[in-house]
Amino acid sequence: MERRRFSYEVLVFLLTLLLFSLTCATASSSDPTQLHDHVEQPRRNLLANGLAKTPPMGWNSWNHFSCQINENIIKETADALVSTGLSKLGYRYVNIDDCWAELNRDASGNLVAKKSTFPSGIKALADYVHRKGLKLGIYSDAGYLTCSKQMPGSLGHEFQDAKTFASWGIDYLKYDNCNNDESKPTDRYPVMTRALSMARRPIFFSLCEWGDLHPALWGAKVGNSWRTTNDINDSWESMISRADMNEVYADYARPGGWNDPDMLEVGNGGMTKNEYIVHFSLWALSKAPLLLGCDVRNMTKETVEIVTNKEVIAVNQDSLGVQGKKVRMEGDIEIWAGPLSMYRVAVILLNRGPWNISITANWDDIGIPSKSVVQARDLWEHKTLVERFQEKLTAQVDPHGCKMYVLKPVA
Ligand code: GAL
Repeated sequence: MERRRFSYEVLVFLLTLLLFSLTCATASSSDPTQLHDHVEQPRRNLLANGLAKTPPMGWNSWNHFSCQINENIIKETADALVSTGLSKLGYRYVNIDDCWAELNRDASGNLVAKKSTFPSGIKALADYVHRKGLKLGIYSDAGYLTCSKQMPGSLGHEFQDAKTFASWGIDYLKYDNCNNDESKPTDRYPVMTRALSMARRPIFFSLCEWGDLHPALWGAKVGNSWRTTNDINDSWESMISRADMNEVYADYARPGGWNDPDMLEVGNGGMTKNEYIVHFSLWALSKAPLLLGCDVRNMTKETVEIVTNKEVIAVNQDSLGVQGKKVRMEGDIEIWAGPLSMYRVAVILLNRGPWNISITANWDDIGIPSKSVVQARDLWEHKTLVERFQEKLTAQVDPHGCKMYVLKPVA
């Protein structure tokens, strides 16, 4: 009798187990988000590392140096980030872009730093950068070759490369999309997500598939930021159109994962001071990565003044982590706004046209209750305006220029 009851219980247990596994199998095969489910666990691990609570800040070699990089440039840049005070403001990632590796892997299939330009190797560079309190970023590609075709990509070598990066002490990986096997980024990028999470080092994962497959819609489960546009160049048109393309995805940005309209061009010489101020202001309000793209070893006073504006940086790094949006457009006039912590609102009055113009932001448009009285801080003049504002705020704005304020409710 005792034996019969025992086998009956075992049978019930086995049947329950069978039913449970059948339910799971059906659920995952019919679930349209199945693709993401298998990266859910690693993604949690990435988030558990606590990266990207605010947009990343630092420098990247591509916009200024393209493939003409070497270890001295990287070291001197790290030195300059510290000596100029930029690192104290948050610019901590020193990111090497394309062209740092030999075209051929070693006999074991490992990536090898290019002997002629990085003779000391990447580990030594990471140690150097870490000693200065900074972080080192590197670049690879979800294809067989990177975009320059001068070095291998990581497709098919994801786990090995992630392990290599972790062993070198890498803190950030930008992952490009050239020369791939034409499978979808949603198939290729999550492989590196898993590889990184298994490499046992918190590595910021920057997806660079140029916005092709709307990465804002799936990027948060895969990486810490995702490019929403193709490459920026150092001109007003290129810059402002990237801000527009990125803005469309505003609702998808959040702490842990950010829209990326590409790196900064401030200081590279192709735009006027006003235009660079617009560039920096829009990137800050859009919660974009603030990755400097100029030669920080040789910045003009004007460039320093722009990229060290603490009040604008504070908008970017605000703990609320909500991306600002265009809230009104009338010809060349645009109002961009977004909420900040402590009931404050950041506003940009943007003049895209060729003439000086008067621009008004109405409380209705920017999400301030209509009877509220606010104090306005002008973030580029570094002045709190004496006037208290109700219903609206108006200012004269230069051509290809902007005003940027933080509005704070007062009694
Ligand atoms: C592009 C990428 C650029 C830069 C370049 C390097 O695809 O968008 O930011 O990384 O490749 O070749």
